[in-house]
Amino acid sequence: MKVAPSRRVDGPSRPLDIVKRSVSSVVKRGDLAIDATAGNGHDTLLLARLVGPPGRVVAIDVQRDAIRSAAARLAEAGMAGRVSFVVGGHENLQDIVAHHERTQEPACIMFNLGYLPGSDKRIVTRPDTTIAALTASLSLLGPGGLLTVVVYPAHRGGREESETVDDWMEGVGDIAIDRMRYSGLQAPPSAAYAWIVRRRAEEWPPQSDASS
Ligand SMILES: C[S@@+](CC[C@H](N)C(=O)[O-])C[C@H]1O[C@@H](n2cnc3c(N)ncnc32)[C@H](O)[C@@H]1O
Repeated sequence: MKVAPSRRVDGPSRPLDIVKRSVSSVVKRGDLAIDATAGNGHDTLLLARLVGPPGRVVAIDVQRDAIRSAAARLAEAGMAGRVSFVVGGHENLQDIVAHHERTQEPACIMFNLGYLPGSDKRIVTRPDTTIAALTASLSLLGPGGLLTVVVYPAHRGGREESETVDDWMEGVGDIAIDRMRYSGLQAPPSAAYAWIVRRRAEEWPPQSDASS
């Protein structure tokens, strides 16, 4: 009797894996994409691969060392030329994008909150700057564009940030077509989770009808 080949099972998906799959299904060659928390550049590398040589990525981090590390990773992959590396706060996203890539609306903006593993844990994303950056993201994204946020409630200040992000997500119903929160079934409240938001494809807010 022939035995059907078994499906490959890699273990349970983490929220970040789900985000990466979602990003990979939306970002296309030639797009503009933004990594708002570049860290060591893992997400930047994914975005650079997806946009290809005609596309652009803006990678932002407050830590100069993080941006150095991200730039080295991209250089090693031969993709640094398609990335603008920015040492700065993502709360200034509008200005940063206007300065670096003014010709195109981003197809995707990624946030991976918290601190950079292996570095100073006091340098961490914070509720007020995160919300400023998320709000800027929604107005920057092109129609159908994707906003992803991986949230880590476990570290000091993380729970407050996660509650602030969840509250903010409650309010984006009109501008988003999809707004999904991914967390593991029976995961403890301290476990990482992800938000994936797809911006409406049509103009929003709608232009008022001049004849009425
Ligand atoms: C979880 S790490 C990101 C990991 C990264 N995506 C990677 O692939 O390695 C979070 C990053 O956010 C950065 N960060 C903290 N506050 C920030 C801010 N206001 N603007 C931009 N980056 C910030 C930290 O320096 C840290 O590198």
